[in-house]
Amino acid sequence: MDVRDTKLAIIGAGAVGTAIAYSSLIRGVARTIALLDIDAAKVTAEVLDMSHGLEFVPRADITGSDDVSVCADADVVVFTAGAKQKPGQSRLELAEATIGLTRAILPGVLEVAPNAIYLMVTNPVDIVTYAAQQISGLSPSRVFGSGTVLDSSRLRFLIAHHCGVAVQSVHSYIAGEHGDTEIPLWSSATIGGVPLTSWTPLPGRPALDAVARERIHHEVVHAAYTIIEGKGATNYAIGLASTRIVEAILTNEHRVLPVSTRADGIEGLDGVCLSLPTVVDRGGAQTRLDVPLSDSERAGLVASATTLRGMQARFGL
Ligand code: 2OP
Repeated sequence: MDVRDTKLAIIGAGAVGTAIAYSSLIRGVARTIALLDIDAAKVTAEVLDMSHGLEFVPRADITGSDDVSVCADADVVVFTAGAKQKPGQSRLELAEATIGLTRAILPGVLEVAPNAIYLMVTNPVDIVTYAAQQISGLSPSRVFGSGTVLDSSRLRFLIAHHCGVAVQSVHSYIAGEHGDTEIPLWSSATIGGVPLTSWTPLPGRPALDAVARERIHHEVVHAAYTIIEGKGATNYAIGLASTRIVEAILTNEHRVLPVSTRADGIEGLDGVCLSLPTVVDRGGAQTRLDVPLSDSERAGLVASATTLRGMQARFGL
């Protein structure tokens, strides 16, 4: 598909929705960007503000409304509408409000954009993705979540900083829930093809030993809490991460990203959505990689799935 014909619709013009719109404009991922929000004045103002920068970005149109028809014929719909996470509150505590919102909003969007790929970003993203798959009735490959793309980027940033290499040279994933039970897949992580389990520190750099790995894991899990404490929300990195996923869809990139998909078929992971490295292309998230897992990683993923299954049961999903 040619980028000139593509349309990206974003549901929710809050801190996350507008960050996705802004980074998508700058990266030129879609020819048309449409924002939908219940607050007409807010969405109109956000669109006006971004319109005034169109001279400085790749050719695009941006539009916004409180009427769902603004999403008509979108190729990708990104869902960000939801309850705001308060300082100290976990993502799972938002489930009731956000599942309700998804039930209220999604059917109308599906009516006007029946052929879109749906990317769920609203938290708790794994539960919301599972709910959206049920509500939409679409093939699960067409409805998936941003998952741990952001967490994996946080992990890579921290490893890069610790080891003294560029973040782009680190290949490592956070898997499982986008939340407190997520786990780093250390056993398959590499820098320049060198497994991190046998990493020799570069001159003057500290060892990446068990203590360092535990600290990094802890920092990744607590990153959002720290940011929310300081500025009330996280938005820039999730904006960039979501844009990266949209780009992979619209350019049929077959990029491997840890998005949240149905984990059926792996022992102990049935019946939930969680993140594992998955190929993302124009058809959505179609193929999950068969990543080698250590025993503790497998146990961590099963624990993540158990937490998510428990939450789903509470909300009748
Ligand atoms: C984040 O991880 C809050 O889920 C959001 O930044």
